[in-house]
Amino acid sequence: MARGVGAPTTATSVRLASLDDLAAIEAIETIVFDSDRLSRRSLRYYLKSRTALLLVVGVNDRVSGYSLVAFRKDSQRARLYSIALDPAEQRRGLGRLLLGASERAAMARGAIAMRLEVRVDNARAIELYEKSGYRGFAVVEDYYEDGAAALRFEKEFALPSDREAL
Ligand SMILES: CC(C)(COP(=O)(O)OP(=O)(O)OC[C@H]1O[C@@H](n2cnc3c(N)ncnc32)[C@H](O)[C@@H]1OP(=O)(O)O)[C@@H](O)C(=O)NCCC(=O)NCCS
Repeated sequence: MARGVGAPTTATSVRLASLDDLAAIEAIETIVFDSDRLSRRSLRYYLKSRTALLLVVGVNDRVSGYSLVAFRKDSQRARLYSIALDPAEQRRGLGRLLLGASERAAMARGAIAMRLEVRVDNARAIELYEKSGYRGFAVVEDYYEDGAAALRFEKEFALPSDREAL
């Protein structure tokens, strides 16, 4: 298929998840990840948590993907805890859209940077993060349930004063 076909339409949007979205998010989680899945119970917890943001991307009411951003009281660094797109909706720009929206939501909460962990063998996600300005700064051995290592990435957000200087 030629790139650009199926690109996000103007109706594509990112919004805060609601309880009604949990079944769709859980279905994506089940199909996309072989281990380290978030349970419905955990998703419900994060949905209600004041230290997390659960976002969904989709066209109209359809949920095509979700992201989960977590915050800590003692840190200005937000953490992208998870991001996943329905396999049928991947490679259409929605991951990039959702990542950008997650960063803006974190900035709006006062975060100065985003951190995340990614499996060392997850080339697609690593490519997305590197293209989006993240840089790897650590390897964490035996991070996932199956013993796989994680790369730890960080992106520092441009401060308003930096933007004015451009
Ligand atoms: C990683 C993921 C979120 C990317 O979302 P997506 O909607 O498919 O990505 P996009 O279409 O926005 O593409 C953004 C970039 O990601 C990379 N990418 C996405 N799919 C890719 C693929 N199949 N092969 C190689 N690179 C890929 C490319 O760099 C791409 O940029 P380009 O279009 O300029 O080439 C998605 O593939 C996914 O849900 N994967 C399974 C869950 C997962 O691994 N989550 C990350 C956990 S840390």
